[in-house]
Amino acid sequence: MIVLKERDVHFLLSNLSATECHRLLSSLHDVLRAYSSCKDAALSEQTVHQPERESIVTRLGNTSLFMPSSITTSTGIKIVTISANGLKGCINVFAPEGDLLGLLNAEEVTAFRTALAVMIPYVRWPKSKKNIIVFGAGRQAEWHVKLALLLSDVERITVVNRGTGRRMEQLFADLSHRYPQVVFELLLRTSDDFDSRVRPLLAASDVIFCCTPATTPHFPSSYLGTKARFISLIGSYKPSMQEVDSATLLSGDCVYVDTREGCLAEAGELINANVHGDQLIEIGQLQGTDPFTTNRSLIFKCVGMGIMDLVMAGELLKMAQEKRQGLELSDF
Ligand SMILES: NC(=O)c1ccc[n+]([C@@H]2O[C@H](COP(=O)([O-])OP(=O)(O)OC[C@H]3O[C@@H](n4cnc5c(N)ncnc54)[C@H](OP(=O)(O)O)[C@@H]3O)[C@@H](O)[C@H]2O)c1
Repeated sequence: MIVLKERDVHFLLSNLSATECHRLLSSLHDVLRAYSSCKDAALSEQTVHQPERESIVTRLGNTSLFMPSSITTSTGIKIVTISANGLKGCINVFAPEGDLLGLLNAEEVTAFRTALAVMIPYVRWPKSKKNIIVFGAGRQAEWHVKLALLLSDVERITVVNRGTGRRMEQLFADLSHRYPQVVFELLLRTSDDFDSRVRPLLAASDVIFCCTPATTPHFPSSYLGTKARFISLIGSYKPSMQEVDSATLLSGDCVYVDTREGCLAEAGELINANVHGDQLIEIGQLQGTDPFTTNRSLIFKCVGMGIMDLVMAGELLKMAQEKRQGLELSDF
């Protein structure tokens, strides 16, 4: 059994090559394909089990989420608590017979697996990805930036944030050395000329990654014009939350999602736009590696699932063994 602390997970993920990242992308896509293909089968036939998550809100106002899942070859549970201090928790991974295989700090894995899920439709998007705008400057935004740089040809990344630049300033300083050809820019909502600066940037953008818990849209759809672009939304998880307006959400041929049931129940954007299940396509339904053929935008909404944590945790445990990372306990 291996224990991976936050710094172990950070080490393993920060040193990923593009080839390793594509391998993880395939593993994640395979488990989402298994989820989509077997969820209507009899329980005894299913290879992927994704029950609803449970939550507890304590008198202190802290919310703990319990996310069980099984992919047959491993079973696990992620437990995280969201408090005034952000998100903290761990992922437990068990062998099919119940032996504990690993215990991983959950924070970095959660951000990484969500951004990696976005990369499943992103790498198939055949149009330009040169101009990227990211809403949010937290951990999720950071991984969207890193993975877009690793997996595509980018010229400019603009991060738009509400308050301060938070972790982005340090990240941009590091990334500027690694990607000297890319322009990195931080745009704060508090700046006087915010609207006149964000409007042309949005109109020219090829890709928009939304990574915040916003309750009102980041921009009106009129700022986007008619250009087809890639737009992902990973922030909302309650009916009261939305990152884009209904016109933007419905600007593609359909809305791609990680889980149809989860997004219909939790994503404010879909609930406000009165979207029905037949307007959604799960990315697990995408076969092969064919690029999208559409002249409209591609919209992807992800609320996240325990199976995504479980499969990534398993991959990280394998990498940790290969790279001799983490704390190994043989007598647990
Ligand atoms: N889909 C999934 O599977 C999944 C998984 C994990 C997390 N998430 C969600 O992804 C979002 C970002 O997570 P994170 O870990 O990156 O969080 P984080 O590190 O706390 O960063 C949140 C970012 O959003 C900004 N923000 C906060 N409230 C906002 C608002 N009302 N309007 C606009 N911007 C706002 C923050 O700006 P300031 O710097 O000004 O505070 C910050 O840049 C959260 O909603 C989280 O619940 C989704």
